[in-house]
Amino acid sequence: MPREIFELSFSNGFARTLHERALGAIERDYPWDSLDPARYPPLLVARARFGWTENAFNEFTTAAAMGQMLQALVQARAPLDLIGMASRFAVEEVLHVELCARMAMRLGGGAPLHYDPEDLVFELDPSLDPLQRATEIVVRLCCVGEALSFPLLSGAMRSASHPLSRSILETIVKDEALHGKFGFLYLDWIAAELGPAERDRLGKAARETVDEYRSLWENTRSRVVDGVTSEGFLLEHVRELGWMEASAYAELARETIEMSVRGPLARVGILL
Ligand SMILES: [Fe+2]
Ligand SMILES: [Fe+2]
Repeated sequence: MPREIFELSFSNGFARTLHERALGAIERDYPWDSLDPARYPPLLVARARFGWTENAFNEFTTAAAMGQMLQALVQARAPLDLIGMASRFAVEEVLHVELCARMAMRLGGGAPLHYDPEDLVFELDPSLDPLQRATEIVVRLCCVGEALSFPLLSGAMRSASHPLSRSILETIVKDEALHGKFGFLYLDWIAAELGPAERDRLGKAARETVDEYRSLWENTRSRVVDGVTSEGFLLEHVRELGWMEASAYAELARETIEMSVRGPLARVGILL
């Protein structure tokens, strides 16, 4: 299996200028200097470096998935308004990659992370037709992945008590709202044409995707007493570095599955 180390770069040619014109000068527009890593215990900083590197990597994989979704939508001849909406998502994910990676840099540099480039895209049953392919990707990526991450990121944003983590999360949350909504706009378009077998197949795909996300919140045992976590960190520090308190996060995740994923999918006849 080919393993790559997760590293990012800029061309530093004219493309860099064009990129900044399109997305804004991220170096200038966010209060990077306001975060002082020396204020936090080294172990917490190490965890935050790893966490923000993972965030950057997840945004990076989502950029690839958004590209794959766009290809599938075009091959399926989805309505042009839906294709147009989806076309903008990959560039937003690229912005999120940069924001999360710069946060990791601010904390001392990205943590080492290895991955297989072949894992960046969905592996689909080759016997599916273009429309079935598009629908499965939309369900997995937007109706589950993005619909789940939007409320969780919003929770982290409300919890973030430092101007840098908060401004990064505000940008990400603003974009992600539409990514999740897109999934259900797509299903509004196609729902009437989905037969029972196709709904069943999509329900299984959605279920599988939810299960892949579960480890994000299910293994947490951390509790807070008098503003200190069970690992001995100040909750205030945890929040400044961009996390929510762990049990509140797990609770929010379980609620989100019901309200933002299971419920809306059931309304179009797709049962988890
Ligand atoms: Fe994103
Ligand atoms: Fe997204």
